[in-house]
Amino acid sequence: MTEDLRFEKLAEKIDDLIKKVRDFDDEKREVVSELINSIEEFTRIALLKLVKLLKEDIVGKELLLKAVKEPEIYALLLKHRIIKEDDRTKAIKALELIKPYVRSHGGDVEFVDLKDRTLYVRLRGACVGCSQVSFTLQQTILEAVQSFVPYIERVELAKDTPSEALFDLSDKKSNYVRAFEVRELKEGRMCRFLNEELDAVVVLWEGRVYAYKNSCVHQGHPLHEGEIKEDGVLICPWHGFEYRITSGECLNLPYVQLEPIPTKIEGGYLWLKIR
Ligand code: FES
Repeated sequence: MTEDLRFEKLAEKIDDLIKKVRDFDDEKREVVSELINSIEEFTRIALLKLVKLLKEDIVGKELLLKAVKEPEIYALLLKHRIIKEDDRTKAIKALELIKPYVRSHGGDVEFVDLKDRTLYVRLRGACVGCSQVSFTLQQTILEAVQSFVPYIERVELAKDTPSEALFDLSDKKSNYVRAFEVRELKEGRMCRFLNEELDAVVVLWEGRVYAYKNSCVHQGHPLHEGEIKEDGVLICPWHGFEYRITSGECLNLPYVQLEPIPTKIEGGYLWLKIR
């Protein structure tokens, strides 16, 4: 197995374990999180010393710069707050956050480059071919990314933007998974659906079913233990980000929303779409 693949597998394993720990009771969760925090603090102190030592020497400094270009080392130093996230990474993350919004308008957006205060993107789907829609989306994307990277002044389409088909062909391969019996769903109560492919939060609100990816846009923690207020606003249990249940719109960040999951009701069951 190559190093890259091993790293990817490890990252997947860590994600799986984190998901399992979230299901522990409070007491066990606290012990695990204390253990993780102590190990992380220990690692951070050691890394800080290592970086400090390397920076004191010219050759060491060069080696450090070389090392930071390795994605695994970059991620580790970033995680331990030893280096700051660069604007490029921030812009990529910001685009990830607004993807559900762009998709709800029939399109998709992809990071291409960040150069001279300009963010180059590739638009796909329904927004390609309609200059007005595409212009509006560019403005929306600009406004959204500026709240993360104020230094960006404009958004432009990458020159090689291919004009893609209006329909997502991958749709044809999509299928649905049976999630709940419809009568199990209770008005205003959140249900979590979790299997190997999907972690979703489902809510019946004013007679309609809404399903979203169970991941808060703030730090990706699950939402299913959150609260739904009388006005249909879902509150993330971790740090209080708020979402409109009928649209997934995040009330704390402009143009950011939860990723919706298409649903259908058939044979008395609610089905959720898996891509
Ligand atoms: S993870 Fe939801 S508000 Fe922080």
